Amino acid sequence: MNLNLHPSEIQGVSLESMAKEFGLPLYVYDGEKIVNQIRSIQNAFSEVPLKIKYATKALSNISILKLIRKAGAGIDAVSIEEVKLGMLAGFDPTEIMYTPSGVSFSEVQEAVELGVMVNLDSIPLMRQFGEQYGNRVPACIRINPHILAGGNAKISVGHKHSKFGISIEQLPEILATVSSYDLNIVGLHVHTGSDILDAEIFLKGATILFDAAKDFPNLQFIDCGGGFKVAYKDGDPATDMKEVGEKVSKAFLDFCDQYGRSLELWLEPGKFLVSESGYFLVEANVVKETPTITFVGVDSGLNHLIRPMLYDAFHDVYNLNNPAGNENKYHVVGYICETDTLAADRVLPEVRQGDILVIKNAGAYGYSMASNYNSRLRPAEVLVWEGKAHLIRKRESFEDLVKNQVSLEF
Ligand code: LLP
Repeated sequence: MNLNLHPSEIQGVSLESMAKEFGLPLYVYDGEKIVNQIRSIQNAFSEVPLKIKYATKALSNISILKLIRKAGAGIDAVSIEEVKLGMLAGFDPTEIMYTPSGVSFSEVQEAVELGVMVNLDSIPLMRQFGEQYGNRVPACIRINPHILAGGNAKISVGHKHSKFGISIEQLPEILATVSSYDLNIVGLHVHTGSDILDAEIFLKGATILFDAAKDFPNLQFIDCGGGFKVAYKDGDPATDMKEVGEKVSKAFLDFCDQYGRSLELWLEPGKFLVSESGYFLVEANVVKETPTITFVGVDSGLNHLIRPMLYDAFHDVYNLNNPAGNENKYHVVGYICETDTLAADRVLPEVRQGDILVIKNAGAYGYSMASNYNSRLRPAEVLVWEGKAHLIRKRESFEDLVKNQVSLEF
């Protein structure tokens, strides 16, 4: 077994000791990995004035946000709650990009009052924004580039039939709206999808913005969104950040030359920063042989990690406690009362009741998409930083589960 691929410790802290100290199931994050990912983007884009706006939705624990802030990034927020979480984590409102999709205007007003940059996602919103603020509040426009890309239909958001952004074909209407309300548009934005491998796709999205930018004289930044693919298993290809950096930076610098002044380039990575930092530790409750399949039932399920069910996502799994055991083929399944296969047809060293299984790439969209389905409690979260394990979210309690319920008497 490759121990680098299947670590038993993070920064010298053993996963088993964390399981003992904090209990199972447990989300564990490697803070060093997150910072390294930020550095790799900064290195790839070192030729341009880059701002990273981490996509909060991927993993929104306040301590993670603080770490990301310490590493020099800002954030992208898609709800007023994410804006407030960011501010709680110490981000200045000017470091927060707010990209809502179809929210009420009162939420947009709240964001303006808090002082964050609003990314306008529809022509009706542009009009309402214009009526209210005219040119007094600078804003960004989210363009739908009509690019179909991404690892799964549900996470492809830049195609022609997607609800996101304003179609590039509607550029004349966008410009007419800017002009009739005298909007002060300081940024253009595109986000095409998630799990995008190909550097050319990022370049294509950026080029569409560069072309559109000619008609916006007040720009301060171009925001190319996120969506970089990470490896989910050994040998799985990942976005070549160096290649994206080279191609997009070159095109960006050429664009700035033509535009007549230097702008900032913004990126909004979510998965790329946090996916590989996350390890989800679960315990094998039962090993159940049937005439066709051997199931390992674990103390978790789609309530804690929904990606395999929602996107057919592959998450690598390994047996922490019996690495040298004889290999068998298993379906790793949850305890939820509907089919919740976390990993199908996996060859693992013999799994025994009580063994800890580790589910990899659990940092992005793992905890942040977790729920209380089946009235189960959400797990604790631990951040390993500078060789120490820190509890960053307590395990939920039964009291947490019922605290907002109003119990009627009949
Ligand atoms: N910017 C915007 C405006 C976004 O909507 C997103 C993600 C990102 C940036 C970051 O994308 P990333 O770098 O993480 O791919 N729950 C799905 C992913 C949904 C992504 C939604 N938007 C998953 O687990 O694969």
